[in-house]
Amino acid sequence: MAITRFLSSTTLLLLLFQYCSIFIPILTIGSVAAQTNISTDQSALLAFKSHIISDPQNNLTANWSTSNYDICNWVGVSCNVRHHRVTALNLSYMGLTGTIPPHLGNLSFLVELEVRNNSLGGTLPPELSHLRTLKLISLRFNDFNGTIPSRFGSLSKLQTFDLYGNQISVSIPNDIFNLSALQVLNLRDNELSGSIAREIGNLTMLKRVFLDFNMFEEIPNLIGSKDEVETLFLQVNALKGPIPVAVFNMSFLTVLALTQNNLSGSLPDNIYASIFQAFKR
Ligand SMILES: *[C@@H]1O[C@H](CO)[C@@H](O)[C@H](O)[C@H]1NC(C)=O
Ligand SMILES: *[C@@H]1O[C@H](CO)[C@@H](O)[C@H](O)[C@H]1NC(C)=O
Ligand SMILES: *[C@@H]1O[C@H](CO)[C@@H](O)[C@H](O)[C@H]1NC(C)=O
Ligand SMILES: *[C@@H]1O[C@H](CO)[C@@H](O)[C@H](O)[C@H]1NC(C)=O
Ligand SMILES: *[C@@H]1O[C@H](CO)[C@@H](O)[C@H](O)[C@H]1NC(C)=O
Ligand SMILES: *[C@@H]1O[C@H](CO)[C@@H](O)[C@H](O)[C@H]1NC(C)=O
Ligand SMILES: *[C@@H]1O[C@H](CO)[C@@H](O)[C@H](O)[C@H]1NC(C)=O
Ligand SMILES: *[C@@H]1O[C@H](CO)[C@@H](O)[C@H](O)[C@H]1NC(C)=O
Repeated sequence: MAITRFLSSTTLLLLLFQYCSIFIPILTIGSVAAQTNISTDQSALLAFKSHIISDPQNNLTANWSTSNYDICNWVGVSCNVRHHRVTALNLSYMGLTGTIPPHLGNLSFLVELEVRNNSLGGTLPPELSHLRTLKLISLRFNDFNGTIPSRFGSLSKLQTFDLYGNQISVSIPNDIFNLSALQVLNLRDNELSGSIAREIGNLTMLKRVFLDFNMFEEIPNLIGSKDEVETLFLQVNALKGPIPVAVFNMSFLTVLALTQNNLSGSLPDNIYASIFQAFKR
């Protein structure tokens, strides 16, 4: 059944390509990418620049200018050769102050967004959820506040989500556990609280988890059923109740940090065997 459907849609595509190429744009209607071009990318970057209130090293001041006509030559901007569209934005270590405007959600080919070690603040625009090709978000060491937009749960290609060292508060929205490609979740040193939902168990690619230095109160037992996790940092939170024993059965776990919480209960008899297993790897 499924194979038949696959074959017939492939056949349909071939027919379109062979005989009616004029109709092909119909196939992409509805995708934002099809309706945007390099000018859209340029306005998005200029909107970002207009939201920068301090650029102490003048990294963008003269460089991000329409007289430097190809935005692919702008500092921190990388483009895809074939489509000539912005695929990466890396404005790390520039000492920038300001906010991220919703316009960045128009960079429809963006794969990497990294602005680590600046003083950018304000809330995370939910419009970034339009960036369906994003694989990396690293906003680490800034002053972002507010909550994690639940719409980020639709970033189906996202592999690294790094908000280390900001002031993000409230809890992790359950939609975040829709991020099926996620490998690294780094929310260390924010102001997050509440419980870590059991849906974290849905993230089957997750390898490194940093939830330490927050105010989380509960970890689900389920986290221990996630075999692929290698590092799990939960120290310095407000976790209470017994340590989920299942964490000691996680086969790839090499680092588990739980200190400075209100956890209770005893450690399993085989804990030394688990630690030994961990050290062997
Ligand atoms: C981008 O698209 C707009 C209309 O959507 C058009 O006016 C503009 O000329 C296009 N720019 C380029 C560089 O293709
Ligand atoms: C930003 O400007 C400083 C000072 O001119 C320079 O040292 C640094 O390399 C620039 N950063 C980038 C990414 O070009
Ligand atoms: C902008 O910065 C890039 C990368 O640092 C550099 O190659 C380019 O020459 C600069 N352009 C202008 C007009 O300053
Ligand atoms: C962004 O730039 C910084 C500093 O140049 C570099 O360390 C980092 O690896 C870059 N990020 C990406 C994703 O290339
Ligand atoms: C880009 O995004 C902003 C804010 O989300 C929106 O107002 C604007 O119309 C968008 N489109 C273009 C082509 O700049
Ligand atoms: C980045 O910011 C962190 C936290 O403020 C600081 O510890 C680190 O030294 C900074 N890194 C660089 C290369 O400036
Ligand atoms: C969030 O950041 C913005 C911009 O830096 C700031 O104006 C605002 O006061 C901050 N809000 C809170 C609650 O800290
Ligand atoms: C996450 O998945 C749930 C259940 O399938 C769905 O209802 C929700 O809309 C999804 N969230 C996002 C932001 O895509």
